[in-house]
Amino acid sequence: MNLKDLYIDFFKSKGHKQIPSAPVVPENDPSVLFNTAGMQPLIPYLMGQPHPYGTRLCDYQKCIRTNDLDSVGDTTHHTFFEMLGNWSLGDYFKDESIDWSFEFLTNVLNIPKERLAVTVFAGNDLIPFDSVSYNKWLSLGINKDRIAKTIEDNFWIAGETGPCGSDTEIFYFRSEDEIPKVFDPKDDRWVEIWNNVFMEFLKDDKGNITELPKKNVDTGMGVERTTAILEGVNDNYLSSIWNDVINLISEISGMKYEDNKQSMRIIADHLRTAVFISADNAGIKPSNTDQGYILRRLIRRAIRHAFRLNININSNWEERIARLIINKYKGYYKELEDNEQIVYDILKNEKVKFNKTLEKGIKEFDKIVLKLKDNILNKDLAFKLYDTYGFPIELTQELASEKNIKVDVEGFKEKFKEHQEKSRTSSQGKFKGGLAGNGEIETKYHTATHLLNAALKQVIGPDVHQKGSNITVDRMRFDFSCDHKLTDEEKSKVETLVNQWINDALDVKCVQMKKEDAIKSGAECMFIEKYPDVVTVYSIGNISKELCGGPHVKNTKEIGIFKIKKEEASSAGVRRIKATIE
Ligand code: ALA
Repeated sequence: MNLKDLYIDFFKSKGHKQIPSAPVVPENDPSVLFNTAGMQPLIPYLMGQPHPYGTRLCDYQKCIRTNDLDSVGDTTHHTFFEMLGNWSLGDYFKDESIDWSFEFLTNVLNIPKERLAVTVFAGNDLIPFDSVSYNKWLSLGINKDRIAKTIEDNFWIAGETGPCGSDTEIFYFRSEDEIPKVFDPKDDRWVEIWNNVFMEFLKDDKGNITELPKKNVDTGMGVERTTAILEGVNDNYLSSIWNDVINLISEISGMKYEDNKQSMRIIADHLRTAVFISADNAGIKPSNTDQGYILRRLIRRAIRHAFRLNININSNWEERIARLIINKYKGYYKELEDNEQIVYDILKNEKVKFNKTLEKGIKEFDKIVLKLKDNILNKDLAFKLYDTYGFPIELTQELASEKNIKVDVEGFKEKFKEHQEKSRTSSQGKFKGGLAGNGEIETKYHTATHLLNAALKQVIGPDVHQKGSNITVDRMRFDFSCDHKLTDEEKSKVETLVNQWINDALDVKCVQMKKEDAIKSGAECMFIEKYPDVVTVYSIGNISKELCGGPHVKNTKEIGIFKIKKEEASSAGVRRIKATIE
């Protein structure tokens, strides 16, 4: 049995219900592009909303983190990973959580306790030293020298605001060296495998910390890292998660992994992530913004590394790798099977597009060369080739050397670094605030989204269905099926209707019911198959009823004045409205 199955079985035996993995693109949290942790889709429940599956949950969650994109290529960084998690929503707390983690690691995975060490929260002005966790670990036979007390590393929050709390992290000694008597969390032979967060606080955007209505547990264990550890390999790509993908890349390129580790890892990692993004029911396509841009970058970077391995780019190499990945994971994630062809098409279309850009880039390169006064290609030109045409510096160097031209590689690297800093800062902006999606203003937008959906149905027709939505503190975006551009009259009718409902001060009600009953009652929902058997249904007066995780305002009068700012095409048969509330 593999790690995922062992984990789920174990926590089921401890009274947990398995919940399905949420899509990689969050449904109700626009503050992040992708789910970055198992807890992200559970934020409303950690804040106190009852979960239809009860108070003990477990799952494996698809996660994507792209802020470390440039680190991919080493032994441990991945853009996509699976996170195992178990949660207590106001049910058990530190004692049981630590007991079960220890039992799972030592009894199910058979890890000797001598190879384990832990950190616990040392205490600060606000929150005292976590003596409960400390004593629990001692009672389980973890030597006090293997329990480190830290502050920064033992407090966990997703982003800047939201549910949070102190944690205890579990480490494994991943080395053949003799195990040191005293645990030093900074010694990188000790790798963190599991994080148990005791979420009892809420941090707001002013930095205030208050108590949550209930004390929760949120844990996270990385599948890739733990599998590598269990299989005794120091390079994740040599574990059973990756070795067949790496072997296939070797076969396709005719090259050895030992000699081409970085490129092969990047191709394997980026294509796997691209497969999961493309197969997500959110319908992401490569583009120049948001998730689409990440998808584009991943595919193009994989292609550039395929060039380095002399893979025949026009062959169906990318489809062969994607097929292997889909086959490996489809038993766990049904959307991979459902959207298989979409994945192959996305990869191929992007490849064809990128090839054209490359051609243009080579033409540009030839032009640049003709204009050179000396035999040096300066940093600005090298960077232009990288930034506009996606030329890695190695490609520019290769083309240049054929013409006896030198490239200012150092200058390029400096410029590249500056650019990276900039894009990192802006992407951090994007990732900031795990809870931004549940602030007061976003909550108003959530409810306005339901009103807009209902108004569109009344004005355009019952065939209008939601295709996507995205909310920031400044605006809402709503995609819906519709075969024509809305006329000014239609837009104004929709706007008036929404504002009328806001003025009518309609109550927003929330009930839990069986999925089939919800559907029978006519509740709207986007992807029926994604919902659990028991669902939350929000209704607004008698004008709207939708399956939704919330949160929503209590009464529509809280919303303010609704204004449509823009109506435009989104994709074939799908229109997009951007609107604000004031
Ligand atoms: N949410 C915690 C983490 O991601 C468990 O580490």
